[in-house]
Parts: sequence; C-alpha cells; structure tokens
Amino acid sequence: MARRQGPGPWWHGAIGYQIYIRSFADSNADGIGDLTGIRGRLGYLVDLGVDFVWITPFYPSPMADWGYDVADYCDIDPRFGTLADFDDLIVDAHRRGLRILVDLVPNHSSDAHPWFQDALTGPDSDYRDYYVWADPDSDGGPPNNWIAYFGGPAWTLDQASGQYYMHLFLPEQPDLNWRNPSVVDEFDRILRFWLERGVDGFRIDVAGALVKDDRLRSNPQVGPWDPIAGRAKQWLAFDHRHDVFQPESHQVFRRWRAICDEYDAYLLGETYHRDPQGLADLVPGDGMHGGFWFEPMHVDWDVDELRRALAAPVDLLGERLLWATGSHDVPRSPSRFGGGDLGRERTLALNVLISCLPGVPVLYQGEELGLVDGRVPPGAVLDPVESGRDGCRTPMPWEPGPGTGFTTGEPWLYSDRRADDETAQAQVNRPGSWHSRYTDLLAARRDLPDLVNEPVVWTDGGDGPVISYRRGPVTVVANTSGHAHQAEIPVDGAVAYATPGVVAADAGHLSIAAHGAAILVTPS
Ligand code: GLC
Ligand code: CA
Repeated sequence: MARRQGPGPWWHGAIGYQIYIRSFADSNADGIGDLTGIRGRLGYLVDLGVDFVWITPFYPSPMADWGYDVADYCDIDPRFGTLADFDDLIVDAHRRGLRILVDLVPNHSSDAHPWFQDALTGPDSDYRDYYVWADPDSDGGPPNNWIAYFGGPAWTLDQASGQYYMHLFLPEQPDLNWRNPSVVDEFDRILRFWLERGVDGFRIDVAGALVKDDRLRSNPQVGPWDPIAGRAKQWLAFDHRHDVFQPESHQVFRRWRAICDEYDAYLLGETYHRDPQGLADLVPGDGMHGGFWFEPMHVDWDVDELRRALAAPVDLLGERLLWATGSHDVPRSPSRFGGGDLGRERTLALNVLISCLPGVPVLYQGEELGLVDGRVPPGAVLDPVESGRDGCRTPMPWEPGPGTGFTTGEPWLYSDRRADDETAQAQVNRPGSWHSRYTDLLAARRDLPDLVNEPVVWTDGGDGPVISYRRGPVTVVANTSGHAHQAEIPVDGAVAYATPGVVAADAGHLSIAAHGAAILVTPS
C-alpha cells in the first residue's frame, strides 16, 4: 500500500472520506448508488488525495433506517451489489493505494435478522438472549423509563410473549445483548469475515452504547419529558447513566482491537460524546484506535465556540481523534454556516484549522464541491427521523444534466436539480473552484513535515476574530470574521496553503480576507 509515512500506524497523517453509498454513484440505472459505482469513481478519490474511504452500510436490509438495520452482517444487499463486486472494489482500491473501511452496526440488528426472527418465537429460543428483553413494569407498561434516540419509548411490547424488547433507535432496530458471550463471539467472526476479505478497518456505529445496565435501571430524569417534544429535547430530559456509555463496552473494543491489530486495520468509533473527557474515556487507547469528535458538526459560527470546539479534545486524545464537519446525519456545514459562498468559505476555513490538528480528518462526500444541502420537497422526504436527514443525503452531482451523472434512472431520493457549477465535472481541475481549494489543501497537508509528535500551541491569545496555532514548524491561521483582518501573530514561514485573499502584509504579519485561512511552514 502507498503512502505510509513515519514509524506510526498507516492512518497517522491520513485523510478519510465518507461515502454514503446510496447516493454516491449508481452503476446500473436503478437509482441507487452501489459498489460498482464506487469502483468507477476510485480515480476521482485518488486525485482528490484521500487515503481511505469509509463506506456506509451495504448489508442486506429492509432499509427501515436506510441500511443501519442489518439483516445479515456477512453479505451484500443485492441493491448494492454482490460479494464479488466487493472483492473487486477492494482489489482496485488497494491497487490505487486507497484503503477501504466498512461500517459495522453492532448496537442493534434489523428486526428481520434471523436472530431476531428466531428470538420472536419465544423465551425458549436459542437466540432470545441475543436481544434485551424484560417483563413489563408492575403497571403493565415498559420495564423502565428509557427512551429511543429517535423519540418515543425504547421498548416495544411483543404481544406473543408479553415481554418488551429494547431498541435505542427504531422498533425495527432491536438492540443486541452485549452481555451475552454468544453475541460477542458472533461479532468476532463478523470482523474476521471482512478482514479476511481485505478491509482496512471499521467505523463502529453507535460505539459506546453496546452494553446496557445489567439491572436495566431507569435513568434519572433531569428535566420535564414531553412525549410530543422534538427528539433532542426528549433525550436531554434524562441523565443517560444506565442506557449508554457503560464502561463494560470497553471490553468489547479491547477484543476487537486485538483482532484488528492482527490485520493492521483501523478501528474507529462513532463516539457521540459531547464532553471531551467522556470521549477520552471511550477511547482510552487500548480499545478503538480512534473516535470522532462531533463538536465541529454542532458548533455555531462564533469564534469562542469554534475555539473551544477545536481545542477541547486535543490534549486529551491527540492522534486518537477523528474530525469531520459533516456526515449523513447532520445538515451540511455550508448550509449550517450561512449557506451559499459564505457557508462554503467558513466550512473551508474550519477544514483548514482542523487539517493540522492531531488526528484524522474525514470529508463527507460532496464536501469537496462545497455542497450545501440538497432541497428535498416535503412530499419527497424519506428519512424516518423527525429532524430530517435527507438534505445531506441527496445524490452526488457528478455532471450537469438530469440524474447529474449519479444515475441514468430515477434517483432513490428526489431532490431539486443542482446548479451546473456545483458538479464535479464543472469543478475538477478548474483553478479557484471549491474542488481545487480542497484538493490543494489535501496536497499541501501531505507535503508537510511529520507532525505526529509536535504539540499544539495556540497562538492567537484567546480573543479577537483570528484563530491560530503552531505545531512544530507549522502555523495554521483562520479569520473567522466577515472583515479582512491583520493577524498579529508571529508569522515567518512560507505559505504552504492559502484561501484567496491571504497576503503577507509586512514581516511577521498576515492580512487575511474575511473567512480566509492559511498554513505556513517555517523553514528548518
Ligand atoms: C448512527 C448512524 C445513523 C443511524 C444510527 C442508528 O448514528 O450514523 O445514520 O441512523 O446510527 O444506526
Ligand atoms: Ca444501482
């Protein structure tokens, strides 16, 4: 494999790219992105300069949660292709020096999974204990007060047995019982199945919630719970000390770490903990290699908030961090940060700031085109979740025209046609395009000296609109304000990367356009 730098693991210094498979590239005109479609776009990814891709679930699934409801962990849904297509994709990707990570969904299966179907036959089923079952409360209601992350109670009654089963997400996504050693064994086999096929790692869905409280105790309520309030509000009405982040999950990660290390595979988590110490507890170093820090997806465009979101986890986690400003679960950053070119400039500035911090940045497909959310008219919404995640999941605009080069059929998710200049075809190799700005950023980062052992020193004094830090010979600076700004920071290096409007004003000072950002390197 190409591009291993330094003595550390291959992901030190790497950049990832998240592929939302349904919407990336469709090879057979059924309107659904697929594995062969990805294979046809490997050249694009290599030219962009990413080192690995993480592909969202492609397993057989009833698609109640668009693939995050898995009915068979060791196969491919026919809509996405076949195992042979997967093998071909791996071979081609590796030939081009690109690594492939798959999305593992261990917290819950689909209710259509044979394990759950068997469990439904009754308490004597060999698979009953693969899931979390409990008798009703004394009043006949759910066994405790846990609620689902997608809203409503976390328990659904199975009429036949009179018991409830638990689900942190949809009722079609029953939670697996990670206190059952058979479940643990099954997943050891599942990991090895994919590793033997050549995958380079796993993104663990809902990592941290696997093991539940052994006594299924109710969570303390910390605010009023309104059953018709939005799901975030419902969730925050409780102190989630018994349903998620149980320390026993760590034993599972340690086990998977040992397996992954045999294959030099990268184990990273969807570690949705908004407190940096909580994240550090989830990823202490001997389990998952890394975990996502989610604040950049939530932060408002406010310099103090940005500073905090960037600095908070750095000293605690270092290279164990993963950074992303977007995903298939949240509005695209350019939309969140003001829309249009304003949002695009801000998102790029944030990506420049992230680019030299410890850890691994991951771009979400289309971020390199500066995409804002696609517009999905109310009648076309497909996401089962109330907040609506369709806008960030609309098809990738490859080229102008109907189907935008994503499909020659009808896209699975309807959205208003993208403008021609949003497409890859219009942007690739065009100086000044968003795609060029991102490609240049990735190229500049690749050419920097190895920063792994360099601490981060914040150099902006903690106030004013400019955020900057130094790491060894590298200085990174961004102007978060809407006005040009003269940065009062010691800048003595050569410009390795700059967005438009960044100029060296005089010795030691930099004039930075509104929302501009730059990377400078001091010659050694
Ligand atoms: C993760 C996924 C999300 C999914 C949920 C349930 O948060 O990113 O898309 O709905 O897990 O599996
Ligand atoms: Ca297809």
